Amino acid sequence: MSTLREVAELSGALSDDDYHVLGSLARFLGRRRYVQVDVISRITGRSEDAISRSLRKMHSMGLVTRGSAGYSLVYAGLDALALHSLQRAGHLDALGVPIAVGKESDVYAGIVGAREVVVKAYRIGRVSFRRLKRLRTYGPHTHEWLLASMRSAATEFRNLRRLSAVGLPVPKPLSLRYHLLVMERIDGVVLRYVDEAGDPQVLIQQILDAIRRCYVEARLVHADLNEFNVMVSRQGIFILDWPQAVDAGNPAAAAYMERDLDNMIRFFRKRFNLVLDPDSAIDYVTGQAERNPLAQRSDSSPSTT
Ligand SMILES: Nc1ncnc2c1ncn2[C@@H]1O[C@H](COP(=O)(O)OP(=O)(O)OP(=O)(O)O)[C@@H](O)[C@H]1O
Ligand SMILES: [Mg+2]
Repeated sequence: MSTLREVAELSGALSDDDYHVLGSLARFLGRRRYVQVDVISRITGRSEDAISRSLRKMHSMGLVTRGSAGYSLVYAGLDALALHSLQRAGHLDALGVPIAVGKESDVYAGIVGAREVVVKAYRIGRVSFRRLKRLRTYGPHTHEWLLASMRSAATEFRNLRRLSAVGLPVPKPLSLRYHLLVMERIDGVVLRYVDEAGDPQVLIQQILDAIRRCYVEARLVHADLNEFNVMVSRQGIFILDWPQAVDAGNPAAAAYMERDLDNMIRFFRKRFNLVLDPDSAIDYVTGQAERNPLAQRSDSSPSTT
């Protein structure tokens, strides 16, 4: 599978008409697996010959796949379409270097005007996709994965908007196109790689305060909180990665909150030798207790011997 970077480099070889064809294929995602040339010809108002030429070209570039009943988009085609749409809207001037490559998303640096941004490209299904590629087929689920990626990007965008609207420490969402999310770039270090936290007690308190405000003011529970989804910067901490967040009213919210807190408590104990009582932490972040739970270093707890 091509990377977003490789696709960005192909953009010079595509015309406005090619992008119209990609856009027509995108309109059918979730409705039919393959789209016939005559259907695209009707939508775009161009001859079937011209559409066939465009599709053959994009097929050789790996942007679309061909089946007995027509053509269909693959990730590279959706990447090309989404990047073009961001650029045309003035929401992305250039794609930069990869920052992180995850299982289900790739995160790149980007530039808009003088501003540094981050582009998160969802890649749901990629692992199964690689296996299918070895078998030389795209499989029946390709378009479902593209749709799932679009849905996750939209959900994360919506959650980031809801959180940043009330001033919570998350990257500000800037733009959304298909499965690509553009957001503010945080200049900081992922918690996992912070060795020397000036004062870990201050750090965990900042994190608990943020979790509490997300719950009380935005009514959201992160539901995948871990040391990779928290960044530490000069401006304080930021919480990333919100596609799976659940509403505070969701019946499973309490269980997710408990797991999120357990992850943080476990990390701070292992890394900084800091002990926190889970029950008082829960009461604090859910707004049932006003006082921040007292963190204690395990090596300074009173000895019973
Ligand atoms: N706004 C941002 N500013 C700076 N770095 C970021 C930003 N967003 C993401 N990153 C970097 O990219 C990494 C991955 O981002 P994120 O956690 O959002 O995606 P992910 O973990 O791949 O998502 P998924 O849940 O799909 O696996 C982060 O750990 C962080 O290093
Ligand atoms: Mg993450």
